[in-house]
Amino acid sequence: MITSSAPGKIYLFGEHAVVYGENAICCAIELRTHVQAEFNDHIEINSVLGRSGLNFEKHPYVSAAIERMKEFAPVDGVKININSELPVGSGLGSSAALTVSTIQALNHLFHCGLSLEQIADLGYNVEWDVQGNASPTDTYVSTMGGVFMLPSRRKLELNDCGIVIGDTKKNSSTKKLVTNVAELKNRFPEIVTSILSTIGKITYCGEYSVCNGDYESIGKLMNINQGLLDSIGVGSLELSQLIYSARSKGAYGAKLTGAGGGGCMIALADASKTVDVSDAIKSAGGVPITTNITDKGVVVE
Ligand code: PMV
Repeated sequence: MITSSAPGKIYLFGEHAVVYGENAICCAIELRTHVQAEFNDHIEINSVLGRSGLNFEKHPYVSAAIERMKEFAPVDGVKININSELPVGSGLGSSAALTVSTIQALNHLFHCGLSLEQIADLGYNVEWDVQGNASPTDTYVSTMGGVFMLPSRRKLELNDCGIVIGDTKKNSSTKKLVTNVAELKNRFPEIVTSILSTIGKITYCGEYSVCNGDYESIGKLMNINQGLLDSIGVGSLELSQLIYSARSKGAYGAKLTGAGGGGCMIALADASKTVDVSDAIKSAGGVPITTNITDKGVVVE
């Protein structure tokens, strides 16, 4: 039996602006999706959603990953068990972590010899198969682990900072929010273009602060980034409540992560403050998860 796991991700800066070619910084986090794979006489997939065979409704990402892996091995009989620490559909890259982890488990079980670059590319293809569109960011960061400047994929170092995630438990559609921003940009091209370009500049300054381990500056830049995300309509009351409550308990900074409109926010906090920040998020109606940035990408355990 092979067990593999892959991390989820957060955006420190730059979501939405990255769609228009601006810079963003994306980080793998310690929350992971674990996939066990073993030989079986037929295909069986087990998760919290239940048991199925190859089933594109119930288990779309694993089914699409199996289909793609048939290019490299006869994946006809395999049993897959999924166990995830990542909330689904909330901007933390749960589908990418599941996809990449499944590919790596099959890669080892069937001795396909795929490299990490190949796994990231295949993962991106699987997300395309399932979603009809996808950004390569989630699958790349989940495969490699660490902190990346996008779109260049330059690797950055950021150690020892506490991240508290607040889940609003409200799902949102990335596609819809990206469309809304595009519509706003069509209506007010000069204003929205300059906001997106300012977000790109925040990321640029953020890179400098990340490289210097200057958490206070990172936090302040996250707050400015949040204000601009709000201005283009991807915030929500629930996100703001969690963000303001985290800031009031001493977080360096807090903002939404991913598409917004619901999903999750993140707060950057000193280790001595993470409990207070987490409690504040809970009191404001969110589900707090304390985690860290990780360099550990997809691995066989
Ligand atoms: O919510 P997520 O994790 O799918 O992130 C979306 C990030 C966007 O910048 C809004 C879209 C994208 O593809 O980069």
